[in-house]
Amino acid sequence: MMVMIVFLIPLLLPLASGQTFRWGPCPTPMVQPNFEINKYLGKWYEIEKLPASFEKGKCIEANYSLRPDNTIEVLNVQTYKGKIRKAEGTAVVQDMREPAKLGVSFSHFTPYAPYWVLSTDYNSISLVYSCTDVLRLFHVDFAWILSRSRILPAEAVYHAKEIFSRDNIDVSKMIPTDQQGCDGPF
Ligand SMILES: *[C@@H]1O[C@H](CO)[C@@H](O)[C@H](O)[C@H]1NC(C)=O
Repeated sequence: MMVMIVFLIPLLLPLASGQTFRWGPCPTPMVQPNFEINKYLGKWYEIEKLPASFEKGKCIEANYSLRPDNTIEVLNVQTYKGKIRKAEGTAVVQDMREPAKLGVSFSHFTPYAPYWVLSTDYNSISLVYSCTDVLRLFHVDFAWILSRSRILPAEAVYHAKEIFSRDNIDVSKMIPTDQQGCDGPF
């Protein structure tokens, strides 16, 4: 069995390329208590992130809105090589007892990926974490610092990273998202 796992790892690694992956199972951070999705809806701008291959562009933002069926429409927009790229997905609360633990999917063929709101004040900042275990041997994770405006004071970013670190999330590879020159004229 062990031999099989050891041989599987190199096969799985390419899946994680460009991503941040680490040994051991996912950390288990605290999430926002009494999370209220209605106050969370609307637009958020990405300030910093752990690198993700699907996010190479700049001016990255997301707009969350409630659909009539109570699912949440996720509209991600980024500018990549001068072109605006949009991706529409769906977010759902998977367990009503844990409303801050959302799942997000961008295609009918992919499972819901975790979207955990670790901390938010709803009107300025949100800390989002997503982690997936692979065989409990290693995990691939994403983290985002989101803001209601394109700029967030350095102290707020620093404080956000302290919260991630407290939950054993490694923020040393976090990179800022370019939010300059995003509101035209282009
Ligand atoms: C977000 O999306 C909703 C639904 O499509 C739209 O009505 C709303 O204007 C958008 N909000 C922003 C800030 O773009």
